[in-house]
Amino acid sequence: MAIIQSKKEQFDTLTERCIQIIRAGGQRDDILHKICVLLEREIEVYDWVGFYIADPNAERELYLGPYVGEATDHTRIPFGKGICGQVAESHQTFIVDDVHQQDNYLSCNIHVKSEIVVPVMQGDAFVAQIDIDSHTVSAMDDTDQKMLETICRELAPLF
Ligand code: SME
Repeated sequence: MAIIQSKKEQFDTLTERCIQIIRAGGQRDDILHKICVLLEREIEVYDWVGFYIADPNAERELYLGPYVGEATDHTRIPFGKGICGQVAESHQTFIVDDVHQQDNYLSCNIHVKSEIVVPVMQGDAFVAQIDIDSHTVSAMDDTDQKMLETICRELAPLF
């Protein structure tokens, strides 16, 4: 008999697996890369999963950290630019149902339709973010948000 898992059940399991990866320890970027691999592989609508990190050596700029998916031209993003740069300023999760409706958006490739960006915070300080692109319109909802915010809270001490 096939077991049909709800999205919430699948995401609860994935959240636990990510927490296990983090708690197993190791180099920060290896941990980030393993999380990208897991989420991109397990979630059908996640087509690009990566981390942008606040550059401690540059004024208000993100650099691209570990990622899985097509290479992107956006290896550095100033705070305020694109969805990623806006989250670096707002410190709030940003879900974009249709990227073509956004004025302040940086296109990675023409297939991307929706996106979610979740900040990693150390107290009041913004340190990094997870960025996920999908080739499906409205691919992410509050279940994605809840899982990714939990993962980002667990990741915060690594930065
Ligand atoms: N779309 C992002 C840029 C990063 S790529 O999606 C990998 C943005 O608008 O900030």
